[in-house]
Amino acid sequence: MNYITVALAKGRLAGLVMERLSKIGITCGEMSVVKSRKLIFTNEEHKLRFFLAKASDVPTYVEYGAADLGIAGKDTVMEERRDVYEIADLGLGRCRIVAAGNGDILPAFLKSNNLRVATKYPNIAKDYFYLKKHQTVEIIKLNGSVELGAIAGLADVIVDIVETGSTLKENGLVVFDEICAVSARLIANKVSMKLENGRIAELLRKLKDLEKTE
Ligand code: PRP
Repeated sequence: MNYITVALAKGRLAGLVMERLSKIGITCGEMSVVKSRKLIFTNEEHKLRFFLAKASDVPTYVEYGAADLGIAGKDTVMEERRDVYEIADLGLGRCRIVAAGNGDILPAFLKSNNLRVATKYPNIAKDYFYLKKHQTVEIIKLNGSVELGAIAGLADVIVDIVETGSTLKENGLVVFDEICAVSARLIANKVSMKLENGRIAELLRKLKDLEKTE
């Protein structure tokens, strides 16, 4: 039997996903080794192989078939726009993508066409401002600590992930609008979905059954 390869977004989400998989009997002992730098783990019993990738690369591995399945946040799936199937909402890692900034900016946020918007998600920000709000804005791509973009005066508005809200609060920023809800999604390579349909459906069924009991 072939291995089914699953690309996991490394970090917080990978921990939550592995915890859930362990509840349906899928464990990878090697993965829990503290401080391990290993990137690929196998479960021989179920013929599964997991690897840890940077979140934004997960859809890329899946589109090209280097991974049959991937697990990443909806934010990443939307931003990367890869040609993959989104097959389940795993309900893990719930957070929101919002537009936020200093309270003084709110009137400009509502109608100005000269805003500067800092974000890790330029595609999501463009869709929101251009297609939904019909505002012409300048998008500035950042790679992290996006709140700093607003407090350092780089941008008027940020488009970013909010989980507890404490980063915004501690930096004196407020939410102007909620763009979308985010949670972990299971995505699949289009060919794998045909070739391994039975095994993928079985995995999905076990995950969904577990969700019902939680
Ligand atoms: C995310 C996000 C915010 C923070 C929000 O950053 O970009 O900075 O978490 O979380 P909170 O609402 O619970 O305060 P992340 O920690 O992923 O790192 P980054 O700054 O490198 O993007």
